[in-house]
Amino acid sequence: MNGSIEEDQLGVGLIGARGYAGRELLHLIARHPRLQLEFAASRSLAGRPIGDSMSAWPGDDLFVEATPATVADRDADVLVLALPTVSRTNTSR
Ligand SMILES: NC(=O)c1ccc[n+]([C@@H]2O[C@H](COP(=O)([O-])OP(=O)(O)OC[C@H]3O[C@@H](n4cnc5c(N)ncnc54)[C@H](OP(=O)(O)O)[C@@H]3O)[C@@H](O)[C@H]2O)c1
Repeated sequence: MNGSIEEDQLGVGLIGARGYAGRELLHLIARHPRLQLEFAASRSLAGRPIGDSMSAWPGDDLFVEATPATVADRDADVLVLALPTVSRTNTSR
């Protein structure tokens, strides 16, 4: 997350990183040779080390809050939303 991104790598911004799908994606990104984490956003874990939640995380990166400024500053190539599915009963038409 802190290093410079190589030309053949994709920088990933992950929103909803605390959840089940988010944690699985963090494991995948950590192992993938062409993916680099630009930021991992979690409202409840913002400011805390990713390594506190994932013992195998390679580095001292912190979870961040997904503000518009954070997303713009990190310049990710791709954003992944690991957010809960919205129930149809919660949507209004
Ligand atoms: N669980 C499974 O077995 C599974 C399997 C395959 C696919 N999926 C799919 O993956 C997606 C995520 O599921 P999940 O089980 O990983 O969900 P989850 O465990 O509930 O985690 C959701 C994440 O999104 C964040 N979040 C929740 N509401 C938010 C909001 N309004 N704004 C910003 N962030 C919000 C959560 O809180 P924080 O911001 O506090 O971190 C958390 O990090 C769903 O579409 C689900 O269908 C899940």
